[in-house]
This record gives sequence, C-alpha cells and structure tokens, in this order.
Amino acid sequence: MELLARAQQLQAEGCDVIHMEVGEPDFPTPEPVVEAAQAFIKTGRVHYTPALGMPELREAISAFYAEHLDAKVSADRIVVTAGASGALLLAVAALTDPGNEWLLSDPGYPCNRQFVQAFGGRVKSLPVKAQAAYQPDLSQVEDAWSADTKAVLIASPSNPTGTLIDDERLDGLVAITRQRRACLVVDEIYQGLVYGRPAKSVLARHDEVLVVNSFSKYFGMTGWRLGWLVVPTMLTRHIEKLAQHLYIAPSTPAQHAALAAFSSDNLAILEQRRQLFGLRRDKLLAGLQGLGFRIDSKPEGAFYIYANSEHCASDSTELSRRLLEHSHVATTPGRDFGEYLAQQHLRLAYTMSEARIEEALDRIRLAL
Ligand SMILES: Cc1ncc(COP(=O)(O)O)c(C=O)c1O
Repeated sequence: MELLARAQQLQAEGCDVIHMEVGEPDFPTPEPVVEAAQAFIKTGRVHYTPALGMPELREAISAFYAEHLDAKVSADRIVVTAGASGALLLAVAALTDPGNEWLLSDPGYPCNRQFVQAFGGRVKSLPVKAQAAYQPDLSQVEDAWSADTKAVLIASPSNPTGTLIDDERLDGLVAITRQRRACLVVDEIYQGLVYGRPAKSVLARHDEVLVVNSFSKYFGMTGWRLGWLVVPTMLTRHIEKLAQHLYIAPSTPAQHAALAAFSSDNLAILEQRRQLFGLRRDKLLAGLQGLGFRIDSKPEGAFYIYANSEHCASDSTELSRRLLEHSHVATTPGRDFGEYLAQQHLRLAYTMSEARIEEALDRIRLAL
C-alpha cells in the first residue's frame, strides 16, 4: 500500500508508472454485465435482497458449477457475499472461536491472517516451498497440527505465486481435515484464470470443504464487490445469521449485474481475455528469466509471477523501491505475503498489454 501510494504520487507528478503491483484485471467490466446493471437500476427497485443473496443468482452459480466445472453444488449451499473478502470473513467468523488455530500458507494472501486474528484466532504459518508448487505438503500440515487447529486455508491458483495444488495433495488435505474434525477452506478466486490446463474446482470431487470464489478476477468485476462462499449444508443457517447481522445483504445492483455474467456472450468475452492473460504470462515469464530472475515454480494461473530476485538484490523491498523510484515500474515485494524467503522475491502482475510488459522489461533491464 505504501508503494502504491508512492506510485500514485509519482504518477500525479507526471511520471509514466507501469503498475505491476496491482491485483486486478486491466479490462473494463464486460458490456453484457454493464447493460444488465443499467437496465436494473433504471427500474429504481433497489431494495435489500435476502442475506444469502438473490435465489436466481444462487441458482445461476449452481448451474455454472454443473455446466462448466462438472460439480454438483445445490443453490442452498451458495452464499453470495461482498467479494471473496466477504466470503473469507464469513468463513472465518463461522469457524473460529477464540484460541482456535488456522494453518495458512506463507507466502499467501496477506488479509487472511488479519481475518483470523479479528475473531480471536491464531495463525500458524506453513512455509510453502517452490518444489511443492508453493502449496502445503501433507507432512507439513500433520507436523504443524495442534489440539487447537481448527482449519486449513489454501488458495489455488495462489496469490502471489500463481501455482495450483494437485488433486492428490488436495485429496490428502481433505482426508486430514476430515479425520481431525477440522475444516478445509479453498480460496478459488482465480479458478477461471488457468493457462494450459482446464479450469477446475475442488467441488467436483469433495462436498465437505468450504470454497471461496468471486466475480472480481475472472469475471473482471473487482469494484462491484461481489463474490460467493460454498458451504456444507449444515453450515448454511449459521452463515445466514452471521450475514444478516454483519451486513444485511450483498449489493442488489451488483447481484443483478452478475446474473448476466454467466450468459454465453459474456463467457465468450471472458475466454478471450483468459487467452490474452496466458500470452502475457508467457511474455513476462520469458522476459524475467532472460533478465536472470529465477521462477522456481511455473505459475499456471491467476495473473502473477513470483520471481526470485537474489541475483540482483539481497532485499526485494529495497529492489522494489528502487524500481519504482528509478524506473517507474511498481512491483510488490515478497514481504507483503509473509516471511518465508520473502526478501528474495518480488511479485509482478501481468494485468497490462504485451507492449506494456515489454516496456516494463526494458526498464527493468536498464535498472539492473
Ligand atoms: C487470494 C485472494 N483471495 C481473496 C481476495 C479478495 O478479492 P475480492 O474481495 O475482490 O473478491 C484476493 C484479492 O486480491 C485474493 O488475491
């Protein structure tokens, strides 16, 4: 956030800053979604919806799982939320009693530890290794387990690494958490943004997990603040009460807009964008490797590359600062995502055109 503020300051002073620190698609909201929102708002009938979300949107999400991800998820297990953030918050609120422990990947999405601590929980970090695709190993989870462990949270594809967990390990995590009467939460916010392999959901093979998703990334709707949480049926009522008290209901215009997100026209636009992201990933990956950065585990999803910067800096926070000040390329230092090998890594987002990526690579080359 400090870097972002500095980047914006430089921009206000007239510098041409390349924003590789931002975690949101550069594309505008697709036209079918904008049109649906406009048509709805014109009616003026913008009232509260049920706390769990509009029934027709929950049905549409359920149909999306069935048609595109081969997963049977009944609408009564789907909770519409204010982004994946709202879904994570509800999941943590529902599962955490003071003193409970959550196992979280390091590096990982930085807000998760704050959510857990806000509800009196404790975080135990799992330092995830590049050789394990930056996803927790089963032995690591077993070794970290304590009498207070309540839940394991992973993200696949992951932020900041763009790496995916394989089915075998996922099955192992489901088995471990089930045996120990704990919960597995899988953040699938980048689920549609996968390159060179089909998009999947853990819900195609397991029902007893909690799954977070969002309209922010694949659907290109960050600012609409809409996402969802899939829960085992026995948790729905509990989650409904939390949602009612915490925020009454998710945004009504955003829910009406999101109904158009699953139309075939819209999905065709999203597929084109996904392909562009794949090309950008290839360009940035090859370019960074050409500049001596090591990418220790190939990113297969999301829109980030987690690059090892040891060849040119002993502290990636300082490197990030210098790249911003001297080259006007904004990146995110590893320190934002945890502590494990953080100073050796930078996260770079490819949420920009290939031409802009080339420009960024040229500037980094000069800086090095
Ligand atoms: C892994 C992960 N989870 C959750 C979120 C929250 O996203 P939103 O609330 O916009 O859906 C993000 C945002 O960058 C993320 O990277």
